[in-house]
Amino acid sequence: MRAKKDPVGCVGETVSEYLIRDHEEMDALLGDAKSALEERDLTRAQRAFAEFRGRMERHLRAEEEHLFPLLDRRSYGDPTTGLLDDHRSVQAELAWLGAALDRDDLTVFLGGYRRLVRLLATHNRKEEGMLCPMLDALLTDEERRELVGRLRGG
Ligand SMILES: [Fe+2]
Ligand SMILES: [Fe+2]
Repeated sequence: MRAKKDPVGCVGETVSEYLIRDHEEMDALLGDAKSALEERDLTRAQRAFAEFRGRMERHLRAEEEHLFPLLDRRSYGDPTTGLLDDHRSVQAELAWLGAALDRDDLTVFLGGYRRLVRLLATHNRKEEGMLCPMLDALLTDEERRELVGRLRGG
């Protein structure tokens, strides 16, 4: 799944590789926010969560603008409807977690944290395990590089 299509030395990631890395980095930021709050370091928790939330909002937007339309055009059926529903649920949890942090409410935060981790695990598995490998196989190298550049915001 993580094998590069380019020969060694060529620049470029597959769509799957890019998304796996971005998902992992965001998971780590969310984990930092939770650990900081558990350690009662509200300032550090808020900083980590603000970074996580900003990255996640950009990530969702980039997928909806650049990735999902391509998936819909290049595949059968309607593969992205469920993914869009997941994105709306992620946004609701981001608002929940932000409000809990504003009140320094660890219990409420942890409830939202557990829901979001479960939701992202399922959602990311769909993107990483099925849809993006399919897309990687369908795109030309040039199309793939262009898409990864757009997802990066370049
Ligand atoms: Fe997504
Ligand atoms: Fe994603």
